[in-house]
Amino acid sequence: NARYCVIGNPVAHSKSPTIHAAFALQTGQGIVYERCLAPVDGFAAIVRQLVASGYSGANVTVPFKLEAAALATTLSERARAAGAVNTLSFTPSGIAGDNTDGAGLVGDILHNAGVAIAGRRVLLVGAGGAARGAILPLLQQGPRQLVIANRTAATAENLAASFNSHGVPVEACTFADLDGRFDIVVNATSASLAGDLPPLPPAVFGAGTLALDMMYAADPTPFMRFAAAHGASMRDGLGMLVEQAAEAFFVWRGVRPQTCALLAAMRPPA
Ligand code: ATR
Repeated sequence: NARYCVIGNPVAHSKSPTIHAAFALQTGQGIVYERCLAPVDGFAAIVRQLVASGYSGANVTVPFKLEAAALATTLSERARAAGAVNTLSFTPSGIAGDNTDGAGLVGDILHNAGVAIAGRRVLLVGAGGAARGAILPLLQQGPRQLVIANRTAATAENLAASFNSHGVPVEACTFADLDGRFDIVVNATSASLAGDLPPLPPAVFGAGTLALDMMYAADPTPFMRFAAAHGASMRDGLGMLVEQAAEAFFVWRGVRPQTCALLAAMRPPA
């Protein structure tokens, strides 16, 4: 059996082993997928050990995604654009780095939420690593406009400037300067982790808005509650999590698992 794992710190909470076990069962692919706790200063050493023990690849989570990008010998276009790697493939010619997070977000919006991105007005809230990873895959869907809003304006401006060559207007903005309603609002800040709400003007949300928080928790985040209170339909990051895993499974195995039933099974009854 081909062996894979998720490397992180912490990693005990990771749902990736459960998700990949379900994909393996469904597709008949013989893989084993484990959790791997790496010391914060020991990521490269762990990867070397995995390669030496014959593993085929690994997912990478907090706090190692930047280090994984530096360690990979080749990077996919979307990993280079993200500046981060969440999927490593150990091949005879080296370590290939990919990033399936943005594809997971897009797949969840298109296929699970059933919302089109093409021609729509999209707001990305936050300008850190999670936001960066989402931008190229979002732009490739052809939105009418992508606005990046961040607490620290300069970070959003730098990010917007580095994605200005894809044929879609990408604009940076502070929360206070946000104007008008958006079709899709993605919270890519880490505010939800602290139970905080980015200070968004309520007018960004409306009855036709899909509000998606990249974070997944048992209860709706303050962002999701705020969006729903202003008419938006809301979504947490569980669908994105399952979709990024499906994309990684496809990168490794060349087989695309179905995600619908698994997603429904993982969602606790309301
Ligand atoms: P990640 O990898 O999760 O994206 P990060 O790179 O540290 O983490 O980025 C965190 C993002 O969340 C940033 O956009 C940050 O805003 P600043 O650039 O102004 O720091 C944003 N963020 C964190 N806490 C926030 C809060 N309470 N309100 C609004 N934005 C917040």
